[in-house]
Amino acid sequence: MKVLFVCLGNICRSPTAEAVFKRRAAKAGLNNIQIDSAGTGAWHIGNPPDPRSRAAAETRGYSFEGISARKIAVSDFETFDYVLAMDRSNLKDLKALEPAGSPAKLSLFLDYAPPHSQREVPDPYYGGPQGFEQVIDLIEAASDGFIMHLRTS
Ligand code: 4NP
Repeated sequence: MKVLFVCLGNICRSPTAEAVFKRRAAKAGLNNIQIDSAGTGAWHIGNPPDPRSRAAAETRGYSFEGISARKIAVSDFETFDYVLAMDRSNLKDLKALEPAGSPAKLSLFLDYAPPHSQREVPDPYYGGPQGFEQVIDLIEAASDGFIMHLRTS
């Protein structure tokens, strides 16, 4: 099973999803899952995650070790079983890139969050620290929902 999380810059939301889902899936005993993240934009290629994302996530015990930004590639739609977008703008960009007949399941990540949840992870880049906390809250809930989905599908 291969899962790719995608946001705009690949330095805030999708690396957070990668780190959070990695740990929660391992704790849930789901092995054999390959987890990666990418951005639809190219500005931050090769950069480590944003220090504000790191600070927020590391406080909760998540690790960003080994994560650096890359841009989504068309071949990712062949490699990954799930391509999970953080917001509707990311999803629209991904749909424009996706080759016809791609086997990857492409959706919003928060489609796997509890029903009452909002459906997008808001971009925290130009906001304050509260936004980075909200990103993790949403990603933790969606990670657990996605783990349930993988167990039952
Ligand atoms: P991300 O946040 O998509 O969650 O990684 C952003 C990071 C950088 C930019 C925008 C969003 N930027 O415009 O550089």
